[in-house]
Amino acid sequence: MNNLRILVINGPNINMLGIREKDIYGKTDYSDLVAFIEAQAAKMGIKADCFQSNHEGDLVDAIQKAFGKYDGIVINPAAYTHTSIAILDALKAVDLPAVEVHLSDISQREDFRQISYAGRACEKTYMGLGFEGYKKALEYLKEGLSK
Ligand code: DQA
Repeated sequence: MNNLRILVINGPNINMLGIREKDIYGKTDYSDLVAFIEAQAAKMGIKADCFQSNHEGDLVDAIQKAFGKYDGIVINPAAYTHTSIAILDALKAVDLPAVEVHLSDISQREDFRQISYAGRACEKTYMGLGFEGYKKALEYLKEGLSK
């Protein structure tokens, strides 16, 4: 089988890792996250591409373009998790296996973080594990797609 192709999408303010609310999101920055994902993916024989945007429509475009090009999606929609039906609909439209990741444990945070729209189109959610959540998401997709 050819290498699995996974698109890893990160939403708004994930580019501010290392600067934003370090007590919640840690001291490592977005380039560290990309390096971590690429290294983990390489070990698993996955071809992972990382995309980050602060704009909802760009995230929708990225999901749409994944159709026919990628085997699965890992997504941390960040704040759009809790507001975006457009991202939910895009995930449903392409119907690729998708896994939701959050660096922090949103279940233990503010009320407004308790709803995840995107999560309704995802097979699995990893939260509160920091970078490790992305690794687990890749492992989950690899396992499911190798069957
Ligand atoms: C986040 C959690 C969201 O509630 C928040 O808006 C983010 C990051 C996380 O990775 O923990 O920006 O998705």
